[in-house]
Amino acid sequence: MTATIQTLQERKANQEKFSCLTAYDATFASLLSQCGIDVILVGDSLGMVLQGKDSTLPVSMEDMVYHTESVARGRPQSLIMADMPFMSYATNETSMANAARLMQAGAHMVKLEGTDWMADTIHRLSERGIPVCAHLGLTPQFVNKLGGYRVQGRDSEAADRMVAHARMLVDAGSDLVLLECVPAPLAERITREVSVPVIGIGAGADTDGQVLVLHDMLGITQGHRPRFVKDFLAEAGSVPAAIEAYDQAVKSGQFPTKEHSFRG
Ligand code: KIV
Ligand code: NA
Repeated sequence: MTATIQTLQERKANQEKFSCLTAYDATFASLLSQCGIDVILVGDSLGMVLQGKDSTLPVSMEDMVYHTESVARGRPQSLIMADMPFMSYATNETSMANAARLMQAGAHMVKLEGTDWMADTIHRLSERGIPVCAHLGLTPQFVNKLGGYRVQGRDSEAADRMVAHARMLVDAGSDLVLLECVPAPLAERITREVSVPVIGIGAGADTDGQVLVLHDMLGITQGHRPRFVKDFLAEAGSVPAAIEAYDQAVKSGQFPTKEHSFRG
């Protein structure tokens, strides 16, 4: 059975966790699906892990279409979510056209990084049959505004603002929310306050789902390894076993632990 946004909604209602990992090609898409991963994110993190760029900003629509098509050809049973790359949703017109390209490439939904300013775009996409995930907190496409890759929503004003933005974007039509690098208590609060499933990365154990970058959870990412990452390959011994171990750890609530999370 193919995972859908309704499946994830039911999981949230039943307080069951769901799993998400990134994939960028057919082989991994098929493997992730066989290992029980519910959502496959074709992330613009491919700019770093595949292309060796030092941020996600250079990733193009052509890159995202190519990798989304590759993932879809793996015929995963998982829900395929594709990132809209930097500046591909700067205006309502470009958002419609670019989101349509990703859906036609095989995505089941798109993910956009931002805050209140995206409400109108999300409303329009949603109305036209394109489910949207709103990515809040540490939004890597904003690295030049944020001054680095750092935890967001640490003070109470910033936390209240993030809660308000999440609510606003859900009211506008978002079917999912993704929180990256936010204190665990804030992620818990947002997960409780919004009606749609919330996926976390570096956001503690209380979100409805968890996501990691594939290369990070296989322990093969070069350079700095963020606090929220766990190498599942080290213990599991094979790539399929590592993916299954991640899926089980997320669904049983064993991952993430406090050591992978940020406090308020
Ligand atoms: O591009 C990506 O892999 C992402 C996740 C880190 C959430 O957006
Ligand atoms: Na991304």
